[in-house]
Amino acid sequence: GVSIAVFASGSGSNFQSLVEVARQEHWPEQISLLICDRPGAKVLKRAQALDVESYALAPKSFAAKAKYEQAVLEILKQFQIRWIVLAGYMRLIGPTLLTAYSNRIVNIHPSLLPAFPGKNAIEQAFSYPVKVSGVTIHFVDEGMDTGPIIAQTPIEIAPEDTIETFAKKVHQVEHKLYPRVVYDLITGKISCPSLD
Ligand code: GAR
Repeated sequence: GVSIAVFASGSGSNFQSLVEVARQEHWPEQISLLICDRPGAKVLKRAQALDVESYALAPKSFAAKAKYEQAVLEILKQFQIRWIVLAGYMRLIGPTLLTAYSNRIVNIHPSLLPAFPGKNAIEQAFSYPVKVSGVTIHFVDEGMDTGPIIAQTPIEIAPEDTIETFAKKVHQVEHKLYPRVVYDLITGKISCPSLD
């Protein structure tokens, strides 16, 4: 049946959390595929340990972004993927994937968007320094960390926090919040506003 693909570039702690919760809770659609744009990333080891099929593609080895995304799209078709869940995928989604999966791509970002988009959002918020940052989950459009917001959780940066303790709080929130949002998405409890 149809299922979910996670796209990731790095450690993959959110990927692991999504796979584990989906299995524990017997979701009607499971995480059946990992797409990774960084051969050698730790997330590939996690996929192997969790017995999730994975593909590592190096975008640089393709003539253009569209060619890379066409290759990804072929894999997604093979696996009958219905949803794309970005979990630390540090690359903009281009028109090829956006058109094929319009309103079916979500992203998690470690700040209260629209504050601190882009890379190193945890470090950006900590060193600004703001007193509250957090986690945002949103539908993906052509922009960088833009698109309709689905859920946000604020997290305090306490005086005694270090970058490490604050980052740990962010990740703990992410690992709880993302599975809840993806579950609501696949079960139709939420949908992209532009679909309505
Ligand atoms: C997460 O904190 C996620 O919010 C962030 O990358 C980390 C991936 O961690 N994403 C972005 O910064 C997107 N702009 P993980 O690989 O352990 O899941």
